[in-house]
Amino acid sequence: MRKHSIFKLTAKALACALSLSLAGLAQAAEPIVIKFSHVVADHTPKGQGAALFKKLAEERLPGKVRVEVYPNSSLFGDGKEMEALLLGDVQLIAPSLAKFEQYTKQIQVFDLPFLFNDMAAVDRFQQSPAGQALLKSMQAKNITGLAYWHNGLKQLSANKALHEPKDARGLKFRVQASAVLEEQFKAVRANPRKMSFAEVYQGLQTGVVNGAENPYSNIYSQKMHEVQKFITESNHGVLDYMLITNTQFWNGLPADVRGELDKIVVEVTAEVNKQADALNEGDKQRILAAKTSEIIALTPEQRGQWRDAMQPVWSKFEGEIGADLIEAADAANQ
Ligand code: LMR
Repeated sequence: MRKHSIFKLTAKALACALSLSLAGLAQAAEPIVIKFSHVVADHTPKGQGAALFKKLAEERLPGKVRVEVYPNSSLFGDGKEMEALLLGDVQLIAPSLAKFEQYTKQIQVFDLPFLFNDMAAVDRFQQSPAGQALLKSMQAKNITGLAYWHNGLKQLSANKALHEPKDARGLKFRVQASAVLEEQFKAVRANPRKMSFAEVYQGLQTGVVNGAENPYSNIYSQKMHEVQKFITESNHGVLDYMLITNTQFWNGLPADVRGELDKIVVEVTAEVNKQADALNEGDKQRILAAKTSEIIALTPEQRGQWRDAMQPVWSKFEGEIGADLIEAADAANQ
C-alpha cells in the first residue's frame, strides 16, 4: 500500500514536472512578433527594405522572431501608423521624413525645396552628427529612429506641362502632411491639398487634385503615370524615410535579439540605400516605355526659376527648424 502511494506520488510529480517543462518549451518557442506596416508597394525602396528585414530576421533568429510585413496601407495608412506604433499595435514603420512635424519640427529640414543638390548630399547630411542626432530627437516621445532609408528626389507631375513656376499657378497639388510642402506650392501660387498616400491615385484620376510630387518609384508603383500626362524632372526635394520603432518595445527586447536586429538594420539600410537610385531609374524607364506621360527635362534657367520661386520658404521655417540645422544640411552639398 505504502509502496503503491509512493509510486502514485512519484508519477504525479513526474507528470507535473513534464507538463511544466512542456509549458516552458512552448513559451520559449513562442516567437516575438514584429509587425512592420507601410504605405507603399513591395517593389519600392521601402517595400524591398521591409521584405529584406523580414528575411534576415527570420533566418538569423529562427523561432525567436517573426516579422509580419503589411504593405500598401493594408494595416495602417498615413495618419494612423504613428499612433499605432505608440500604442504598440505595430513595432516598425518607416514614414517619409515629411510626416514627423507633430513630433519634432527639426525633421522638417528635409522638406525644404532645393536644399540638397543630389542624393549623395542627402546621405552625407543624414550620416553627419546633426543628421544622426535627429534619429534620437523623439526619444522622450517613445520613438527611436533606427536608420534613414532612401527613396529619392521628387518630380512634379500634372496633367499640364510644367516648365516654369507660372505653369503651376492655380493647380491643386496633393501634398504629404507637411506645412513646408504646403508653403512650397503656395510659393508658386498653386493650391496644396493634404491627402494620405493611399488616396493619391484616385485623387488624381477624379481631378480632386491636378498634380503631385513623388520619386519615380512611387509614381510607377501607384500607376500615377497612367493619370498624369506630364512629369517634370525637377528634382526639387527629397523623399526619404526614417525607420522608427517604439523605444520601450526595442529596449525591452532580449539583449541577444536586439543585438542581432540592430546588425540586421545596418545591413538592410546599406542595401536599401545602395539600390534606391537604380530602382527609381528603372521605374523612370518603365514610365517612358509605357508612353503614358511625357517626361519634361528643365533647362538650367527654368530650374533656376523654380528654385528662386520656392527657396523663400526656407526663411519661413528657419525659426522652427533652426538656422544651424539648415546650415549643416546645406554644408553637405560641398
Ligand atoms: C507619400 O505620402 O507621398 C510618401 O510618404 C509615401 C511613401 O511612404 O513613400
